[in-house]
Amino acid sequence: MTADKVGSCLLVSTDEVGRPLRLCRLRESFWNLYVKGCDEHYLAHILRDHSDFIPEMNYVAVYDERIVGNIMYTKSYVIDDKGNKADTLTFGPLCVLPEFQRKGIGTLLINRTREIALQKGAGAIIILGHPRNYCRHGFKNCKDYNVSNAEGKYPFGQLVLELKKDFFAGRRWKFHYSSAYHVDENLVRVFDEQFPLKEKQFRPSQEEFSIACRAYLG
Ligand SMILES: CC(C)(COP(=O)(O)OP(=O)(O)OC[C@H]1O[C@@H](n2cnc3c(N)ncnc32)[C@H](O)[C@@H]1OP(=O)(O)O)[C@@H](O)C(=O)NCCC(=O)NCCS
Repeated sequence: MTADKVGSCLLVSTDEVGRPLRLCRLRESFWNLYVKGCDEHYLAHILRDHSDFIPEMNYVAVYDERIVGNIMYTKSYVIDDKGNKADTLTFGPLCVLPEFQRKGIGTLLINRTREIALQKGAGAIIILGHPRNYCRHGFKNCKDYNVSNAEGKYPFGQLVLELKKDFFAGRRWKFHYSSAYHVDENLVRVFDEQFPLKEKQFRPSQEEFSIACRAYLG
């Protein structure tokens, strides 16, 4: 794909449009990547009806009338040592179809929704993801902002993009993401049965993910 064609990739704010297709695309993007199989298509399915879901930040990338990428956001928050709460935003799942990756589409999705976050006056976006994908967008590890997880630890993959300067300054915070992300694996298995059969296989990227999930900054 040339840069020109990436330029003709449309970003569409969507709710119902293309929903079954969107779920298939998510499944294709994540299948066997982080675990055997994946649960992101189920997550996207239940997110839509969750009170933390932010519909106006749900974007798909469309190329040649084909959905090739998707980003979804939820409400999240941080609490400081004195119990003061501040709202944050979290995205995930974010995906681009494998054959469309490394062409700038993920960047388009992040940039477009970051603009909306800024318009909303959001203080920060906090995500769980691999730094490899997000440092180039300005994300830093949560430790740099004194934003731990709910247990007071600083996960390797808990990443913060500060939108308002010094939003976290001078205080220690704990991050709380939406309960929507706690998916029931039995429900995922049943949900997945309606999709075309795909083989669950081991990939080295699963081991890398497992290591990253157990890594914390000291
Ligand atoms: C992570 C993901 C969403 C990124 O989407 P993407 O469309 O590939 O992202 P981009 O193309 O904007 O950027 C990816 C890389 O391609 C490079 N790139 C962008 N446009 C390019 C172009 N025209 N030519 C060559 N390289 C290009 C970027 O510089 C970046 O390089 P880097 O990794 O060395 O920094 C995508 O890889 C994906 O869906 N992965 C599977 C699901 C997943 O892991 N999701 C994230 C969960 S944490």
